[in-house]
Amino acid sequence: MRLTLGDFERAARTRLDPGIWDFLAGGAGEERTLAANAEAFDRLWLRPRVLRGTTAPPETATTILGRSWDAPLGVAPMGYHTLAHPLGELATVRGTAAAARLPVVISTFAGRTVEELAAVGGGPLWLQVYCLRDRAMTRRLIGRAEDAGFEALVLTVDAPHLGRRLRDLRNGFRLPEGMVPANLEGHDFSSPAAHASTQFAPALDWSVVDWLRSVSALPILLKGILTDDDAARAVESGADGVFVSNHGGRQLDGVPATLDVLPEIVAAVAGRVPVLLDGGVRRGRDVLAALALGADAVLVGRPVLHGLAVDADRGVTDVLNILLAELTDAMGLAGLGDLADIGPETVRRDRP
Ligand code: FNR
Repeated sequence: MRLTLGDFERAARTRLDPGIWDFLAGGAGEERTLAANAEAFDRLWLRPRVLRGTTAPPETATTILGRSWDAPLGVAPMGYHTLAHPLGELATVRGTAAAARLPVVISTFAGRTVEELAAVGGGPLWLQVYCLRDRAMTRRLIGRAEDAGFEALVLTVDAPHLGRRLRDLRNGFRLPEGMVPANLEGHDFSSPAAHASTQFAPALDWSVVDWLRSVSALPILLKGILTDDDAARAVESGADGVFVSNHGGRQLDGVPATLDVLPEIVAAVAGRVPVLLDGGVRRGRDVLAALALGADAVLVGRPVLHGLAVDADRGVTDVLNILLAELTDAMGLAGLGDLADIGPETVRRDRP
């Protein structure tokens, strides 16, 4: 019986080729940041309140950028879900829709087309954008997603090139024969790191937000913000939201856990735009902890691929349902009737 996201992770590992497993699971450098993301959640403890007359079950619905979500939870952008299951993002979007109305962020390097994903229906779809040297190709992708009904753009700003992922270097990782990004054309994509180093736009600066604004009417969120200065700059540049993210420890090893930098970013943003967080979210109580420290919602990455690898769309549904059940369980036991009841007083940092 699989009751936790850890159960899905262990089951997925036995099903995947070791080189693919390393690509999905690994981080950059010594994987300090990868480990820190998970550890940060374990340093927080909950402060339950009792006898509050809280009605059950707790209400988890929220509104982000004018759209209602069933819970403050979404699927982070990851390239090539087809590495975990041949149906790829198609199964992810179907599986998410079967769990709840939750957003899925589709990577620039998705293995399925934006049109076929939009046709599934379900919760909001957002497009993650890597700004390529070939701006015309980037622009075509954005236009197709917008036409298909995608609702926001998530520009990833922490990846001028891909981080030094030692597992992939040691394994000589290449995509399996025939696997290509379904929404891009023309390049040699077989080595993600080599492709990024030659094809990602070099020397991007804040004017890229204006460029995105000039090519699309969709809200623009910046993913990969880790300091208060950059968070403030993002808002001033017109971003409609920020993602506190260290790319799941896959980019600059040695940056802190996202949960640890969240408070300074929340303070800098000061409620002007939504703040989302990803990295190491593995339990319902992790969602609660991030919300207590000021996140509006969290995104979950690798566990969704574990669900996919284990049981296609049904595995994705199961993974998200476990997180949702754990969240409502923790809220109910902590005396929290809805998300507005969650605040800094919901957690404590020291060990009791
Ligand atoms: C990613 N991530 C990522 N981010 C992004 O902006 N564009 C992308 O194409 C990808 N691709 C990608 C592939 C794989 C296999 C992984 C594991 C991650 C990063 C992702 O959006 C997110 O920041 C982290 O995965 C969140 O951390 P957890 O939940 O995996 O710990």
